[in-house]
Amino acid sequence: MCGIVGYVGHRQALEVVMGGLRRLEYRGYDSGGVALVPSGDTAGTTAWAKKAGKLVNLGGVLETADLPEASTGIGHTRWATHGAPNDRNAHPHLDATERVAVVHNGIIENFAVLRTELEADGVEMRSETDTEVVAHLVAAELNRTPDLTEAVRLVCRRLEGAFTLVISDAQQPGVVVGARRNSPLVVGRGEGENFLGSDVAAFIDYTREAVELGQDQVVTITADDIVVIGFDGAPAETRTFHVDWDVSAADKAGYDWFMLKEINEQPKAVADTLLGRHSVDGLLQLDEMRLSDDELREVDKIIIIAAGTSMYAALVAKYAIEHWTRVACEVELASEFRYRDPILDRGTLVVTISQSGETMDTLMAIRYARQQRARVLSICNTNGSTIPRESDAVIYTHAGPEVAVASTKGFLTQVVACYLLALYIAQAKGTKYGDEIASILAELHQIPQGIQRLLDESDQMRKLAADLVGSRSILFLGRHVGYPVALEGALKLKELAYIHAEGFAAGELKHGPIALIEEGLPVFVIVPPKGRDQLQDKTISSIQEIRARGARTICLVEDGDDDVVPFADHIIRLPRVPTLMQPLVATVPLQIFACEFAELLGNDVDQPRNLAKSVTVE
Ligand code: AGP
Repeated sequence: MCGIVGYVGHRQALEVVMGGLRRLEYRGYDSGGVALVPSGDTAGTTAWAKKAGKLVNLGGVLETADLPEASTGIGHTRWATHGAPNDRNAHPHLDATERVAVVHNGIIENFAVLRTELEADGVEMRSETDTEVVAHLVAAELNRTPDLTEAVRLVCRRLEGAFTLVISDAQQPGVVVGARRNSPLVVGRGEGENFLGSDVAAFIDYTREAVELGQDQVVTITADDIVVIGFDGAPAETRTFHVDWDVSAADKAGYDWFMLKEINEQPKAVADTLLGRHSVDGLLQLDEMRLSDDELREVDKIIIIAAGTSMYAALVAKYAIEHWTRVACEVELASEFRYRDPILDRGTLVVTISQSGETMDTLMAIRYARQQRARVLSICNTNGSTIPRESDAVIYTHAGPEVAVASTKGFLTQVVACYLLALYIAQAKGTKYGDEIASILAELHQIPQGIQRLLDESDQMRKLAADLVGSRSILFLGRHVGYPVALEGALKLKELAYIHAEGFAAGELKHGPIALIEEGLPVFVIVPPKGRDQLQDKTISSIQEIRARGARTICLVEDGDDDVVPFADHIIRLPRVPTLMQPLVATVPLQIFACEFAELLGNDVDQPRNLAKSVTVE
């Protein structure tokens, strides 16, 4: 989704804004632009440039645009919603006099009505975007009130939908105003300078002091001040937090791709997510939980809500939660949840899983759940993001910033956090003794070394990708906790290689999918460990059925288990781990395969086409 930067201070705004946009590139975009508000003799006119394509294209325009120096500026990378990704629709958008410049993330749902009103007043629109109406409305307000903050506040009260707006006025150098409803915006507090950004990456090079903004708030930054009010004009409470990002996290550290770097960070990410989660007496402790044991004991149903890869983490969690806590657990797509009129009450614990903490589908689901009086707990990787702020409790994964659009360490650490939640509820409800919980935690602490072994064996997946790179369709099969792994493996390949990749529950094959099997079709099979309700025997039967029809079977199976060998064209060995923890190791080879496959195709592994890192529109 769009990247937004705003700056007021003592530096050259163009340098700060472009640097911030480059840090935000991972969010996914298809055009970029900047607007500067010079002071002194060029005061009163906005200097701007915008260009379709990557920031390098905008850089080319800037080389010849000769924009004046300015210490006030805003910038934007656009992920197209309304209007094609071209120069005209790139942000910033300006009013007819080019006094007001606006950049926007989100969707203004009543823009058509507003556009009609403006055109009826003789305004000539210059783009197909929803954003442009804001520039004209703010300019009209400025004719009535010279104060940019007040003008923006009055306009925001007329807008419907989700929006983050950052706005400048050519007649007010030294001031930038931002506003947010449902879309992300965070403030960076500097020394004699202040910043606005879609997330902290926008200003991480200059400050680690950040200020969270709440719903329906307007923020005004100058070089020395940050003022936050509500859309109602009343002063607003804010929360300051320290950004504990390691700046090196925002570069590739020698890897060709952020995704490859993040795959290799998984042992540490899992270890960090487990760190400090149990007290000296061995009890599990989740400091940020904010739900008492009594409240957890009241929980009689758990519904996990998420999207994409996070949804597959939820599917894995369901097995652990029901097995360890004996509480019924449902898993629901965030985009479907509130439209099915779900049955929620005070005994329902709604758990959301979101790496970014900004996924609009998930955020809207939270709001619905809380209206139904359900308790909401979020599992999230991004401190200061919207979803944890609107939840009753949070468990942060400690994966560190995940920059690649395709989630990898985000997924594994989400699964670990779900295990911690399940064990914590089991501890509160007494469905697991302390020694049982300690034993499971001890096994979880062994997982990072199992992941590391698979990373050390990456070459096998690189070779397999080279072998299969001509495939136009690849299937993934799994049972029990291997089924969500099959779904996740398929999603990784789909979103990176742009080929048909589909995951199935192996037991479903005969109910339709087996019709897809044809000579040479590659099929990955995540083979369950032995001794689990004959699941392995049933899976081997599925392998035999597809092989008899020409499939090329690539079987992921744990060390020492040789029953499947006669039926596998290729074996990928997994470290032996407890049944419920198999996703934490089985997923890794599939991540590496998808990354290598995409690279062989010459695709942009970190920013796959059409995708954004954080989907902040419904
Ligand atoms: C995963 O590789 C995708 N990028 C996507 O499915 C992602 O998991 C989904 O959009 C949810 O994002 P979130 O975890 O930030 O809410």
